[in-house]
Amino acid sequence: MNFKKNIAAAIANQLKKKESDIFDVLEVPPEPSLGDYAFPCFSLAKELKKNPNQIAQELADKIKAQFIAKTAVNGAYLNFFVDKSKLSKDVLSAILQKKAKYGQSSEGKGKTIVIDMSSPNIAKPFGIGHLRSTIIGNALRNLLKFQGYKVIRVNHLGDWGTQFGKLITAYRKWGKPALLKKNSIDYLLQLYVKFHDESEKKPELEDEARAWFKKLEDGNREALSLWKEFKDLSIREFKKIYQLLGVEFEAYSGESFYNKELAGTIKILEKSGITEMSEGALIVNLEKHSLPPAILRKSDGATVYMTRDIAAAIYRKKKYKFNKMLYEVGGEQKLHFLQLFKVLELLGHSWAKDCVHIDHGLYLGKDGKKFSTRKGKTVFMTHVLEETISLACKIIEEKNSKLKMKDKLAKDIGVGAIIFGDLCNDRSNDAIFDIDKFTSFEGETGPYLQYTNARLCSILRKKKLTNTKVDYQLYDEEEQEIVKHLGRFSDAIADSSRQYKPHILARYLLDLAQMVNSYYATHQVLQDDKKIEKARLTLITTVKQVLANGLGLLGIKALEQM
Ligand code: ARG
Repeated sequence: MNFKKNIAAAIANQLKKKESDIFDVLEVPPEPSLGDYAFPCFSLAKELKKNPNQIAQELADKIKAQFIAKTAVNGAYLNFFVDKSKLSKDVLSAILQKKAKYGQSSEGKGKTIVIDMSSPNIAKPFGIGHLRSTIIGNALRNLLKFQGYKVIRVNHLGDWGTQFGKLITAYRKWGKPALLKKNSIDYLLQLYVKFHDESEKKPELEDEARAWFKKLEDGNREALSLWKEFKDLSIREFKKIYQLLGVEFEAYSGESFYNKELAGTIKILEKSGITEMSEGALIVNLEKHSLPPAILRKSDGATVYMTRDIAAAIYRKKKYKFNKMLYEVGGEQKLHFLQLFKVLELLGHSWAKDCVHIDHGLYLGKDGKKFSTRKGKTVFMTHVLEETISLACKIIEEKNSKLKMKDKLAKDIGVGAIIFGDLCNDRSNDAIFDIDKFTSFEGETGPYLQYTNARLCSILRKKKLTNTKVDYQLYDEEEQEIVKHLGRFSDAIADSSRQYKPHILARYLLDLAQMVNSYYATHQVLQDDKKIEKARLTLITTVKQVLANGLGLLGIKALEQM
């Protein structure tokens, strides 16, 4: 039984309201002594022309259900106390029965969500912003899938644009094929930097670059084959990162993929009457909407990022018939997405309202400065990941050198550390990228959660829970609090995915781990009283299951031993 749902249903029934509306406003009181759920009556006062306290009192008199042990009016709140042993039985047997499926819902059944995520730029290093987009996007995808949505992950690679004209020019002038093969992105970046240095002295290089991009757009064989080589090498590098992180995509359709749609898209835009010419460029004037103009085609005829995003959105709507489309992209592109969604709306696409920019903040270094530049040098994500993994390796070597498969463990711990380091923060905020902190086994970290899981596993290796006939009356207050928290797992998932904020689930898991660790310190699980032992083993088993389910949703491996 879902207590929250049932309470919502009971209230809704009395007030003749929609259950889901009541469900959304039901709160968990800040103190357990105030009950398990609280219904605030403020907003009803106007409608019912009564004071909130009176409404709460009248509701209390009417609502009586088996599963509610007691109700209490506290000012404008009606507080509900559920029957504890009934709650325990319900929650724990649901976990034991549903196992990896515990927490799942069918909210999204029959609905499709496209999530545009990761989307690094070809011939450039995979940046920390792309890492955030990959990690947050992947967690959201897992959460939404768990809620029954069909989720399409699209990698909108930055694989088109004038920078390729520069790169082709640079490579033709100074490039060495052997170095390209060996150092791929590293080398392409060097060429790109060299181009910029040289073009300061010789501005005519810029013209040459423009000409090469034009050739590329016109399908010139040499230009295309160089571009393709750069692209393949880059994707190969990116895939190493995806493999480490355990992330996959349903589609790798980068910006270049929409080239063939662009002429048609521009035609539609022009026909719709929303475009105008401005200094030789084709734009949509968004002044009335308090936004700067959206440029669709520059005066030299080249299309831009925006044009390709418009084409991509229309294409995706046609192809995937999405109910929602999420763009997991850094907050610095806020304006771009406001413009994009506005243009789609002005084009008459009512589904523009289903497009959401899921932004994220910056990662800062420990010194509080932007992380992506260190003494003017770019940080390579592969190096950061490798460094983290070798740090994890050192830590486990010190802690427990007898462990088997240390390399694999170090990888799972290092990757978990980075993922959790990101996801425990509200994504919209800036965060500090601190590898030492992320890899610590204590504090609010991935390894701490994995370690908690491993500890529970080690108890269960000593004694497995066989039958589950438990005397739920045996649970003390601390145990009941843990049960209550376990019962809120699906709320944490629903809140996380409705707000597109994985940190809600991350925080939930930290609370669960803290609860079970302090419980474990004061409660002997394995012991002579077999009834108590069974009750406690049941609790441990279910906590372990929920931890594992939650970690899995965030994209982190729940380790059995570490
Ligand atoms: N490649 C872009 C960048 O690195 C991100 C693309 C995001 N997705 C989109 N549809 N615009 O800035």
